[in-house]
Amino acid sequence: MKKITIALDGFSSTGKSTLAKQLAKELGYVYVDTGAMYRGITYYAMQHDLVSENHLNKEGLIKELPLISLKFNFNEGLGFAEMYVNGENVEQQIRTIEVSRLVSKVAEISEVRAKLVEQQQAMGKDKGVVMDGRDIGTVVFPDAELKLFMTASSVTRAQRRYDELIEKGQQVSFEEVLQNVEERDYIDTHRDDSPLVKADDAIEIDNSSMSKQEQFDVVITLVKEKL
Ligand code: C5P
Repeated sequence: MKKITIALDGFSSTGKSTLAKQLAKELGYVYVDTGAMYRGITYYAMQHDLVSENHLNKEGLIKELPLISLKFNFNEGLGFAEMYVNGENVEQQIRTIEVSRLVSKVAEISEVRAKLVEQQQAMGKDKGVVMDGRDIGTVVFPDAELKLFMTASSVTRAQRRYDELIEKGQQVSFEEVLQNVEERDYIDTHRDDSPLVKADDAIEIDNSSMSKQEQFDVVITLVKEKL
């Protein structure tokens, strides 16, 4: 069967990764979570004192970029790939609210984006890939056969992220999570390099009041039309 590229873009916590995982499993495609790559670089920058709440050593980070190796290793038990930075499994560490607070600052740096976009294009060169992020349909794969743009109200998204963090045992308040979601939306949509915008040919899906199953059913129908 013909293989296609599926680009899934949208605001944070719109359930992109859940949908992408479901699609990849159903279609036997590779799933690439590009947010994990920006989070991986941010985690490295935090560990090396290159970024914190009140500083960003942009030049220092750009210099160290060639030293940062990012890899996804598939975990059979979990059924998805985990992020490794320089050989260390950082899947847990990159999902914390601390990384969420700093990642959009790091993702504004053009040199960081260029490095990651190149890797993403290499990972998707043979098609048969579901990639989620902010610039997949606009920059990474402008020729993707299917582009989806996911939205939901910020309160709905913050509630989902809050539930996830609490389930993982993290100490956060709902207000803190909502503020983070809104701040990231702002930075992601206003940056100069590859801002989050809906590609002209993307299909918008507002899943504020859709169940995961309803959303999957809508999208798999769209996929089948392309195969
Ligand atoms: O998808 P996730 O919420 O994990 O992404 C974390 C952050 O990484 C986003 O808020 C955004 O700043 C950045 N990002 C990006 N481009 C992508 C994926 C993520 O700028 N393709």
